[in-house]
Amino acid sequence: MKKVDVVLGSFYGDEGKGKIIDYLSQNADVSVRCTGGNNAGHTIEIGGKKFAFHLIPSGILNKGTIAVIGNGVVIDPKVLMQEIKNLKENGYLVDNLRISDKAHVIFPYHVEMDRLQEELRKEEKIGTTCRGIGPVYCDKYERCGIRMGDLVNKKFEKQLRKNVETKNKLFEIYGHKTIKVEDILEEYNSYANQLKEYVVDTVELLHNALEENKKILCEGAQATLLDIDFGSYPYVTSSNPTIGGICTGTGIGAKYIGEVYGVLKAYSSKVGAGPYITEQNNEIGDTIRELGHEYGTTTKRPRRCGWLDLVALKYAVMLNGITGLAINHVDTIGKLDKIKLCVGYQKEGKTTMHYSTDMDEIAKCKPVYEEFDGNFGDISHIKQRKDLPENAQKYLNRIEEIVKVPIKFIGTGARRDAMIVC
Ligand code: GDP
Ligand code: IMO
Ligand code: MG
Repeated sequence: MKKVDVVLGSFYGDEGKGKIIDYLSQNADVSVRCTGGNNAGHTIEIGGKKFAFHLIPSGILNKGTIAVIGNGVVIDPKVLMQEIKNLKENGYLVDNLRISDKAHVIFPYHVEMDRLQEELRKEEKIGTTCRGIGPVYCDKYERCGIRMGDLVNKKFEKQLRKNVETKNKLFEIYGHKTIKVEDILEEYNSYANQLKEYVVDTVELLHNALEENKKILCEGAQATLLDIDFGSYPYVTSSNPTIGGICTGTGIGAKYIGEVYGVLKAYSSKVGAGPYITEQNNEIGDTIRELGHEYGTTTKRPRRCGWLDLVALKYAVMLNGITGLAINHVDTIGKLDKIKLCVGYQKEGKTTMHYSTDMDEIAKCKPVYEEFDGNFGDISHIKQRKDLPENAQKYLNRIEEIVKVPIKFIGTGARRDAMIVC
């Protein structure tokens, strides 16, 4: 029955999900993206080449794996066309790509609205990726969205005209220039022609695969603390990157789900605004950023960096039913002399493991740290956990001990093969 494994982000994104997915998809018949859009950026390094995936499941790099963009994803066709082009130019086939007819389409007015809303928030910006993600999900729930099926079957002009009329009224209120349907129509009709061959009923495709006992890998994007319901609202994205989003974003029932891998880094990072208790807005954070090359895959923004927070990790484990941890950048943290690990929050004189997403509550908490020795040396060639230096083992053992979930993967470098499979 358990034919579906899931990879999810445990913190604020960019934990190295792409790398874990790339590894696991070697044994997957189908690899599927479930939520989010091109706010995601999943990096895979192969043979000195860096691939950044925004929409196409990273599993496409494995010959024979069907790569599905599920119904829960929101698609900017321009970005998708660019990704298809990049893959083809690098000698990869995209014949195995399938796109859900139910996935919603991002139009230029979504991107413009995202930018404008951020501008209007002034000092209280969310720090969105400005890719139109919030506005397109708004239209989906408003029930005026345009889906990939409508696009490729050229049944979208009427709705587009209505939407442009409404958006223009808003743009006028904001004193922003209005947009013209004709400027969009030609471009999107061209995308429709080029993408038609990939658009199918992916729910049927996935269930046919399940019937045939095929192995499916679900590729989470974003992460637990960015979840619209369970994250640090309002500093979140507009979808459910937690386990529920895997089911609603694909049409796969919970009974099929087997392993749920929670991906994390040996430290933590965040892009965008909002609370971040273990942030090191100081020399330590700067050092981690440089050692880990912590600059956004999508927006190139410098990522905020800090210590690993086990209170937040336990929250992610609880919410998602995580069965195994994938911990990346152990090589990076091992370059420091001393490493801190947050093992609880101090609140009103008491230590707690409760993770609150309430901003006022968070403001009252202070991290409780344990300190570890670093200087792991070069670990990129190590293939077995027992061969890791003692300092690394102590750090990893303590994480497992507190979180009570086994570590299944240890990232020892950015390259595809720099990983210990436990
Ligand atoms: P994702 O969005 O979760 O897929 O993560 P990103 O690709 O945005 O960011 C992770 C970054 O860390 C990428 O640049 C990866 O190449 C890199 N990376 C992943 N795992 C490791 C690791 O174990 N060690 C090092 N040094 N880099 C890693
Ligand atoms: P991957 O899949 C890191 C963050 C943005 C912002 C907030 C809302 O690569 O881990 P949005 O554009 O979604 O409305 O922005 O969410 N964010 C991410 N941060 N990694 C991501 O994806 C992210 N996707 C969204 O920085 O704080
Ligand atoms: Mg990323």
